This record gives sequence, C-alpha cells and structure tokens, in this order.
Amino acid sequence: MSKARVLAFALSALIISSAAAVVSTPAYAGTAASRIAGSDRYETAAAVSQAAFGDPKAVEVVFVTTGASFADSLSAGPVATVRNAPVLLAHNNGLPRATIDELRRLSPKEIVIVGGTGVISRSVGDQLKSYAATVTRTGGADRYDTSRLVVEQGFPNGTGTVYVTAGRTFADAVSGGALAAAKSAPLLLIDPALPRLDAATKQTLGKLGASRLVVIGGQGALSSALAQEAAAVTGAKPSRLGGADRYETSAVVAGEFGVIDEVLLATGTDFPDAISAIPLAARRGAPVVLTIPYCVSTTTARITSQPSVKTLTLIGGVGALRGLVGNQHGCLSTTDPHSPWLVVNKKRPLPSSHEPADMRPVNVRNVGGGWMRREAAGALEQLFAHASAEGAGAMGNASAHRSYSYQQQLFDSAVRRKGIAQAEIDTARPGFSEHQSGMAIDVVACGNGCGSIYGFGGTPQSRWVNDNAHRFGFIVRYEPGYQHIAGYMSEPWHLRYVGAALATDYKAGGFHTLEQYFGLPAAPHY
Ligand code: DAL
Ligand code: ZN
Repeated sequence: MSKARVLAFALSALIISSAAAVVSTPAYAGTAASRIAGSDRYETAAAVSQAAFGDPKAVEVVFVTTGASFADSLSAGPVATVRNAPVLLAHNNGLPRATIDELRRLSPKEIVIVGGTGVISRSVGDQLKSYAATVTRTGGADRYDTSRLVVEQGFPNGTGTVYVTAGRTFADAVSGGALAAAKSAPLLLIDPALPRLDAATKQTLGKLGASRLVVIGGQGALSSALAQEAAAVTGAKPSRLGGADRYETSAVVAGEFGVIDEVLLATGTDFPDAISAIPLAARRGAPVVLTIPYCVSTTTARITSQPSVKTLTLIGGVGALRGLVGNQHGCLSTTDPHSPWLVVNKKRPLPSSHEPADMRPVNVRNVGGGWMRREAAGALEQLFAHASAEGAGAMGNASAHRSYSYQQQLFDSAVRRKGIAQAEIDTARPGFSEHQSGMAIDVVACGNGCGSIYGFGGTPQSRWVNDNAHRFGFIVRYEPGYQHIAGYMSEPWHLRYVGAALATDYKAGGFHTLEQYFGLPAAPHY
C-alpha cells in the first residue's frame, strides 16, 4: 500500500461503537462500515442472529453449538443455512443470557445441537427443551464424524457440488463454510493427517452424489493426494480454492462470490464470530473474509476495496476487530524498528545497533531533552502547543531518544540507586527501551520552572495528555495497573508516538497496552 493511501486511511480514522447493535459510520472511499457485536462471543452470535433473522416468524429451526472450541461447531454454519437457521452458542454447562433471550425472541419449533455431550452437556440439552418442542443432537465421535452426520442430515437429497476442507484449524472451514452456505452446498471436513481417505468419508461423498468437488485451502492444509481420492468418488478432478495462508485462502474464496456489495469481516485469530456469521453471509450473498484483527492487509483489501463493495460489516466487538479494520487502514509492521506500530517490550528487543535515521531536535523547552524522529518531533511540538493554547499549561522534554549505550548507563545507574528489583520495573535494560526508537519521550510539567517526571502525574498537563495525546498520535504507554502486561510501573510521563489513526482507535476502543491492541503476549519479564 502506498504511503499516500495509508495516510488517506489514517485520515479516515473513525470511531465505531462496540455496543451490542449495528452502528453505521462512513469509512474509506464511499464504503460504509458497521459492526454487529456484543460484549462477548455469545452476545455477538445473538446479535448476528438478530441481524440475519429480523422476523422471528421466518425461523423454525435454531442451531446451537459450543462457543468454547471450534472442532464440533465447524459443521454447523452451512447446514444451519440450508435450514434457514441461525447459529447460537452455548457453554458446556449452561446457556448464556444472550442465547436465551434470542431463543425466546425466535421461539423456534426445533433446536439442533451440534456437538456431543462432551462439549454441550446433557443438562444444557434438557434446558433447551424449554425453548422448542423438539430438541435434537447431531454429535459424532469426533469433528469428522460430526461433519459427516451433519452433512448427510442436511443434504438428504444430495448435492451437485461438495466443498471439502481440512478440519485441523477453523479458518478455512469458516471461509469455505460461508461459500458453501451461499451456494446451498455442503462443506465436509476431512482429516488432513490421514495417509489415505477413510471409508466413512468416501461413503458420505458417495451418498451426496456430487459431480464436482472443491477443496478449500492450500496444499499445506489438505494434500493433493487426499483431494484426488475424494474427487475420485465424484468422478471429476478436484478444483482448489486456496492461498498461502488463511487470509489469502479467505480472499480467494471470497472471489467466488462474484460481484458483491457487502463484505462480512471476522477475525482470523479466533473462531466463534465467524461461525455464527455464516448464515448471515448466505442470506446477504456476502463473503466472510478473515482479517488480521487490527488492519486490512493488501490481500484482504483485494476484496474490501472492490468498487462494488458499499458495506463492510465487522463481526464482533473491538476485542475481536479493531476500528482500523472498518477504516480499511493498511497494515504497518509491529517489528520494523522504523514503523510507528513497532512494539518494544521485555520480550521484543530492538537490535542493539539500531539508530533511527531521520531524527531532529524537538523545538520545545528541553529539560534533559533529546531528539526524536522527524514525524514524532513535529507531532510532539503540536501537542505541546495545543496543551498550552487549550489552557493545560506548558510542558518540557525531559528525555527523548536514547542510544543503546545511554540506556545502559541509565539502567546501571538505576540499579545502583534503587536496587535491581525496582530498576527492572521502571527502567528498561539497554536494547529494550522504546526511547531507542526515537518515538518515545518523557515529558514534565512546567511553570516558571519545570517539575520532574515523577511530579507529572496529577498535574493539569497530565490530565490533558490523558484526554488529548491521541489527537497528535501519542499514547501514554505505561498506564497504572498494566505492569503485568507492559512490564513497567505506571509512567504518566512516558508518551509513545504511534500515529494519529492508531492512537485514536486505541483510545476509542478503551485499550491500555499495545500488547492488547495487537494481540501480542504479555511481557511482564524478560
Ligand atoms: N522507563 C521506560 C520503561 C524505559 O526505560 O524505556
Ligand atoms: Zn520514558
């Protein structure tokens, strides 16, 4: 993606609410983004059901599957779709409030549980009898057995095309499930670890009587040998819709929908939102495209930026998909030391030799001071100027860029003065400090003179920074209460430049660490 385009996306940064509702906001290039979300996967599934099946009288059957693991639930989507049924999620030992409320609203004649009693207990089965006259269960010995049973029951009269995919991960089954559902065809899971296709799968394929077999996923997901064996049952050569990874496969599969005016976006890192989206996808003729949770990659943009696409519907709350997905913000690196999205923490060091190339002095009051990278320095000058103009008071630069060797001196000094335990939670070891990137700065409040960094918290300047730093592309990197994730005690003075689009979305989404925003592991220790 070109720099100009990234900037255009950044300028279109908009806030999307995470309420359990559909909220429309304008997005990039005439495409509107909306979100169907609840506060967790169970509420999201119920919200998707409401969006897909507004008229409860039109629904006779509801599918219920587990929200805890994907194995048994993968087969639910396409078969629910052919029965015009939504997919709701249950706990192993109980029904979430959102699921109960949606069952009451729909008041179906029949509930189909997909999965054995190991994933949805007998007692939940009994509880479901309060919401429909008939409750049936389709659960096999394993995910493949469940898939065969569900497919055979869902397609008693067979099918022209059968889709098959590996059942080891959820991703290809979700992308393929939406396509199968939209084409009113079954999706059968195959065990990719088998050396030869098993007799039971051959039997199911035989019963379906398909004349065409389409494999969803790349060679790495399901081998050509298994695909050929499966296709042999249909008497035709297999065709394959697959890419190098789940995102590419998802985009390739979405291409099969032809001209589309809507794309449903679901996270590619977890399964439940996408499973419940399948019946909605089929009803709207829109693909479910799996995306990186915090940006739109060039692969995903092949689908989302098509001129015919007028609506992007994000499935799940900000915990599943960040607002930048709705804004079609391109993906920046979180590992490149020059990227504004760089994440440095106790588990993610910078190369010791790293020196930012484009630094300049920061034209503000310098108290200790230091340079910053050009873009960050300009943004910081704006931030200080606005803080002053908006009545918060003056600020100074206590410490900005630090070389590896300077950080070494600071760390050694902290250890001498405070002891190792305290030093480790307030000063980064050399090679592990954001300051080395030229995109971090410690600020102080100034009047006639300037205070110390330790006096910054609680000042009007600090309050203003908490409320407004995002406007200038900064976040307060170390908030109180997040040492177990970000690795350090609260540092209200330490501002990190990440760019306005990310900083704005981070604040709107209520995030407190970059680790949470990017879905990275916590880094409390080295
Ligand atoms: N005080 C912060 C964690 C640093 O040394 O980078
Ligand atoms: Zn700092």
